[in-house]
Order: sequence, then C-alpha cells, then structure tokens
Amino acid sequence: MLTDQLGRPFRDLRISVTDQCNLRCRYCMPKEIFDDNFPFLEKQELLSFDEIETVARASAAVGSVRKLRITGGEPLLRKNLPELISRLTAIDGIEDTAMTTNGILLPKHAQALKEAGLNRVAVSLDSLDDERFQEITGRTMRVKHVLDGIEAAKQAGLGVKVNMVVKRGMNEEDIVPMAEHFHGTGVTLRYIEYMDVGNANGWKLDHVVTKKELIRLIEEKLPVDPLPPAHAGETAERFAYRDEGGEVGVISSVTDAFCRSCNRARLTADGQLLTCLFASKGTDLRSVLRGEAGDQGLKKKLEELWGARNDRYSEERLSATKPRRKLEMHRVGG
Ligand code: GTP
Ligand code: 5AD
Ligand code: SF4
Ligand code: SF4
Repeated sequence: MLTDQLGRPFRDLRISVTDQCNLRCRYCMPKEIFDDNFPFLEKQELLSFDEIETVARASAAVGSVRKLRITGGEPLLRKNLPELISRLTAIDGIEDTAMTTNGILLPKHAQALKEAGLNRVAVSLDSLDDERFQEITGRTMRVKHVLDGIEAAKQAGLGVKVNMVVKRGMNEEDIVPMAEHFHGTGVTLRYIEYMDVGNANGWKLDHVVTKKELIRLIEEKLPVDPLPPAHAGETAERFAYRDEGGEVGVISSVTDAFCRSCNRARLTADGQLLTCLFASKGTDLRSVLRGEAGDQGLKKKLEELWGARNDRYSEERLSATKPRRKLEMHRVGG
C-alpha cells in the first residue's frame, strides 16, 4: 500500500472547485483585501470537470482514496456542480462524497446534489445572531439564509454537520447557544479551534478558545461523554450528549494536533496538489494533465508526491522558530 514518510496512507482527497466566495469572512477573505480588484482565478486557469475527474480517478487507483470532499471558496458558485458530483461518485473505490459550503445556495441546489450522489454536507456557521453573523461574514446575508440551507439539505436526505470556527473576541457568546440550537436535531455541530491558515488573518495563540474550554462550557448546560473515533484519520473528537440529544465534536488542530493520522491531500481549483493545509506551495498537476505524460505520468507523480510526504505542521506549530509563508484558505479549501 502507498504510504508517506510517516507511514500514513492516502485516503481522502479534498477538491477545491473555485477560489471565489459569496461571503467575506474576516478570518478567511477579509473584504479589504478580497475586493473587486482581487485577482481571482480566470476561467481557463481552473481545472475542467474532465481534469478533476482524472485526478480523482488516479488518486483512487494509486492510493487508497475512498473519500472525496468538494470545497472552495464556496463550491456552489461553480456552474453545473451536480454534473461533477455524479462523475466523481461513479469512480471505482469512492465510498463517501461530501461538500463543505456556507449553505447560502443550498435551498437551490440540495436536491440536485443528492440526486447526483452526494452523501453529506458540512455547513459553516459561526453565530446565530444576525448582527454578529454579518460582522463576521462581511455581507448582508442573514443567519436564516444558512438555516434554510441546512433545512434544505436535511429535506433532500443529505447528512448534515455544522462547522463553527470559534475565535476569542469574535463569537464566544455563541458557543453555548449553538450547542443548544443543534442539540436533538440530528445535525452534528463541530467547534473548530481558530487556526493560523494563510498569512492574512492575523492569527495569535490568544485568539484560540481551546478544546478544553469548549467542552467545559458545553458541559455546564449539556453534559457529554467521549465517543471513539468513527474512522481513522478523523479531524474531530466526538462527544455524545448524555441525554441522547445526538453528538457534538471539537476540531483541535492547535491544542491537540491530529497530524499523526492525517491521510488527506488537497487539490486547488487551478490544479495544485497540496500535501498539507498549511503548505507553502503545491505541485502543479495542471501542467501534467495538459502535457504529454498521460494517465501513467499523473499516477507516477501522485505516487512520488505521497511517498515523499512528511508534513506535520500542526504538531510543529508551537515550537516553530520562524514564520512560514502559507497559501490562503480560500485557495486551499480548508
Ligand atoms: P468529516 O469527513 O465529516 O469528518 O469532515 P472533515 O472534518 O474532514 O472536513 P471539514 O471540511 O468539515 O473540515 C472541518 C474543519 O477541519 C475545517 O476547518 C478544516 O480546515 C479542518 N481540517 C480538515 N482537515 C484538516 C487537516 O488535515 N488539518 C487541519 N489542521 N485541519 C483540518
Ligand atoms: N481556522 C479554523 N477554521 C477555519 N475555516 C476557515 N478559516 C479558518 C481558520 N482560520 C473553516 C471554515 C469552514 C472550514 C472549511 O474551515 O469556516 O468551516
Ligand atoms: Fe467563504 Fe468559507 Fe471563507 Fe467564509 S470561510 S469567506 S464562507 S470560503
Ligand atoms: Fe494534516 Fe497538515 Fe493538518 Fe497536520 S497540519 S493534520 S499534516 S493537513
């Protein structure tokens, strides 16, 4: 089996289909930087559906990729996305296909996504308070638009998780209300420790509300018990509400890194392959796809890349002596 330098298999490919987004979250695409003049990727720079399918097929063949996740920016801004999903879900070996979205466009697309074979969505929502939501997302959309998206996904039969990035001074007031809101609804809420993705978000360790603090706050209202991991390489630590109100998770990349079991690669919308969320640079697969090397050349490249991989940024973060240049979240896809 193909493993990297730390013995980790290649199981999960995260595919970004656009670098654009209809929101401007302060910690991801601050609107002062990502304005009308920002040089987003041009159409011809994006991988075509054929090219994305080729990379996914090759990854399933050389590695043991079983999970695909569609990301962005906001993936639902890419035209004809259900067509891509049905092609990807038909690939031999792919068992689970999910999408990470801000949810705004789900009422329009949830049914078609389900019919195309999508299994699950992870919807990003950081506050239930309209004023804070608008402050965080830099736009005039309302919380209701996201909640309608979540409802549409449930109605369509998609599995639904909600991702809440928690940042000190940004949305601590929302920690307990979010747990109460999604408790007993079948939607799994996951708190995410604020991470130093990219270089534009001004991350400081003080901004991080730790897993320990999060659990303590939830437990004051809704007692929980730890659950075992659902599968190897999972990002979230899971907890069950003691009253059978479902489960809740914490993604603690800062205070309890999970690099040891990290089996994920990321493909940017313009075809760079990244072996870590915090990579400074990727490997250009687009030129391989558009060159003479063919399918065999692409597979060889993937094998080489995964075989050489030794990334463990989150484990090294707190002892690093000098800052690293990193790609921004809207390009990497989270
Ligand atoms: P599931 O398959 O449902 O467990 O999803 P997931 O947690 O793999 O994906 P999702 O897009 O919902 O990610 C939730 C959060 O975890 C996002 O903030 C991601 O940036 C973060 N995350 C995902 N993978 C990694 C990773 O490999 N390293 C780090 N540090 N964070 C990650
Ligand atoms: N830290 C933690 N999570 C982040 N996300 C975006 N930027 C950050 C950050 N700096 C989240 C999004 C989305 C997921 C893909 O990543 O809110 O839920
Ligand atoms: Fe868009 Fe998600 Fe980034 Fe917010 S975090 S700006 S919704 S890509
Ligand atoms: Fe994987 Fe890099 Fe995240 Fe560690 S920091 S879990 S190696 S993506």
